[in-house]
Amino acid sequence: MANETTEPIAMIAIDGPAASGKSTVGRLLAERLHYLYLDTGCMYRAVTWAALQQKVAIGDETAVTQLAHDIQMEIFPANGEEDGRHYTVHVAGQDITWELRTPTVDANVSQVSSYLGVRQEMVKRQRAFGQRGAVVMVGRDIGTVVMPDAPLKLYITASAEERARRRTQDRSEQGHIANYDDILADVLRRDQIDSSRTHSPLRPAADAIRIDSTDQPPAAIVNAILQMIQEPVNGNR
Ligand code: DC
Repeated sequence: MANETTEPIAMIAIDGPAASGKSTVGRLLAERLHYLYLDTGCMYRAVTWAALQQKVAIGDETAVTQLAHDIQMEIFPANGEEDGRHYTVHVAGQDITWELRTPTVDANVSQVSSYLGVRQEMVKRQRAFGQRGAVVMVGRDIGTVVMPDAPLKLYITASAEERARRRTQDRSEQGHIANYDDILADVLRRDQIDSSRTHSPLRPAADAIRIDSTDQPPAAIVNAILQMIQEPVNGNR
C-alpha cells in the first residue's frame, strides 16, 4: 500500500456513531487497498437476530450471553450477489444478511451489545479475524479495545440530523417505511446508549484521527486517507 519507504499498515481501525459513514469509508478503503473488511456491527446484529428468532428475552443477559458464545456465525465477501449487499452473513448456515437490517434488530441491538459477556465473545472473534493482517475493521471500540495497537485509527462522525437523513434514505431504498423524525429519535437514542454504556462506550481513541463526514462524500474522505497514509510524515510515513 504505502510507498517504498514504509511497511504496509496491518490494521486500520475505524470507529464512530451509527450512520456516520464509517462503514462506507471502511469498505471503499478496503477495496482500494485490497484489504479484508470487517463490519463488527453485523456481529452484534447477528446475535440480536438469533435471540429474537429463538425467542430469548433480550433483557435476559445470561441467556443472550450464552447464545453469543454458542452462535455459529460466518462472514464472507459478497461474492457476486447482486442485491446491494456488501458482505454475506450466515448464522448456522442460513443467509441472514438482510435480516440484520430490520427495524426490530435496530431497536434491540444496543441492549444486546451493552452486555459484557457478549462483547467479550465478539471481541475475541474480531481479534482472531484481525490476526489475518491487512484488515480494515469498523465498529465502536476497535481503536479503544479490540485493536488498541492498530497503527492507523480513524474516528468518523457527522451531525445527528445528517446521519438520520442518510439512514432514512437507506431504509427507503431497501423498501422499508422510513420516517425521518422517528429515525432521528432512534439515532439519538442509540448514540446515548452506545456512548454511556459501562463496557467499551463509544469514544475516540486518544490517538485517533477525527473526521467529520457531514459535508464530505465517502469517496473524498477515502482519497484523503489514502493520501495521508501514502505520504511520509516526519520521515516515518
Ligand atoms: O454499526 P451498527 O449500527 O451496525 O452497530 C449495531 C450496534 O452494535 C450498535 O448499537 C453499536 C453496537 N456495536 C458495538 O457496540 N461495538 C462494535 N464494535 C460495533 C457495533
